[in-house]
Amino acid sequence: MTRRLPDDFLIGCATAAHQVEGGLDNDWSRMEREHPQRIRDGSVSGMACDHYARYRADLDQLAGMHHTAHRFSIEWSRVEPRQGIFDGSALDHYRDVVRTCRLLGVEPVVTLHHFTLPTWLADRGGVLDADAPRLFARFAAACTEALGDQVGWWITINEPAVLAVFGYMYGEWPPLQRSTRAFLSALGGMARMHAAAYTAVHTVAAAHGWTARVSFAHHDRPLRPLNPRSPLDRAATVAPNALFNRWFLRACRSGRLLPPVGRGQAVPGLGRSLDYLALNFYCEERVRFSRRHPRGMFAESVPAPDLPLSSFGWSIDPDALRRALERLWKEFRLPVLIAENGVADENDELRSRFIVDHLGAVCAAMASGVEVRGYLHWSSMDNFEWAEGYSKRFGLIAVDRATMQRTPKPSAALFAEICQTRVVPSAVPVVG
Ligand code: NOJ
Repeated sequence: MTRRLPDDFLIGCATAAHQVEGGLDNDWSRMEREHPQRIRDGSVSGMACDHYARYRADLDQLAGMHHTAHRFSIEWSRVEPRQGIFDGSALDHYRDVVRTCRLLGVEPVVTLHHFTLPTWLADRGGVLDADAPRLFARFAAACTEALGDQVGWWITINEPAVLAVFGYMYGEWPPLQRSTRAFLSALGGMARMHAAAYTAVHTVAAAHGWTARVSFAHHDRPLRPLNPRSPLDRAATVAPNALFNRWFLRACRSGRLLPPVGRGQAVPGLGRSLDYLALNFYCEERVRFSRRHPRGMFAESVPAPDLPLSSFGWSIDPDALRRALERLWKEFRLPVLIAENGVADENDELRSRFIVDHLGAVCAAMASGVEVRGYLHWSSMDNFEWAEGYSKRFGLIAVDRATMQRTPKPSAALFAEICQTRVVPSAVPVVG
């Protein structure tokens, strides 16, 4: 098997506005203010990495490390701070981000919704608001008008199933709801929003003769039985796997709100609304049957006994990425852009090996026929990890939060070497 990545393979990092930009006023910053106990290390996103001001230097640094692609999200609350009032200067900012990428030879990958909402929309019910698809489409159209001449890769919504679980089922993220009914409605609402944005991006792009590829970002987190010989453990994986790992994808293919979210009713624009598959992959999860976990559909997550764990407690198993890629390819036959893959690692002890082994798994999947177009590491720099605050470090680059000084970690150099040579070593090279 070759461990050489094709010349046109996109390679770089992924970020999201709320986690790196700083100075935001959206439903998340409101929750951080009003419910400080929700953030485990007591932090607020605040100035984050001050990337809104420092994006030129940050992109320059990544291009200097031979990255050829960069994923970022457009913050809706900046572009449309009040309903129907668009701020041209915010769109100019993102236009300059894209222009800077292009000047540096970096392919931009643009996300339209990465977990945060403007407060005016949150107050109307957020993704449950019947008008949210129309409003999201209008925002998507404005972004495509402004950036579409220079952006070919679009992501409508980041990880809808994760947002539905944490925001609507477990009540840990905005809007802090804990209801199975709200969880299902959120999935349905986001499917409608995705369909509307997919149509809007394509309509604007086609009117100008621009090319656009559109996907949502699918978080695949396959559940496996802790004890494969236990029928109960095996059974416990079935419903959550179908709902978290497949429902949204199948809805986007069939164009229907499939059960248990809907009764199979058609949604305009939803059918075949994936031009490629943006895949966020971190790990598989081991589960056992537990009557005490009705909200988790009786699947209780347990640390994998036989695998190393990240500082988030997530198992590290590169072959799980190969398996996921092969399963997704078999079922959907869509070219894949790995839109996130990374590891929480306080001291950069795990990351180099993680990168080498996961890119090795990508090479193995490609050798077996899966079309993988690129790999975006999560993330370029340590940033605000949602309810974990700043306690989890996913970055190739450390950020001193007092001075905002950036310091590349050893794993950044290794990743840069892979980006430059396109060769994935079979082990982490020993330095010195
Ligand atoms: C996926 C999310 O898209 C991103 O925002 C988050 O930081 C990473 N996972 C790590 O948890």
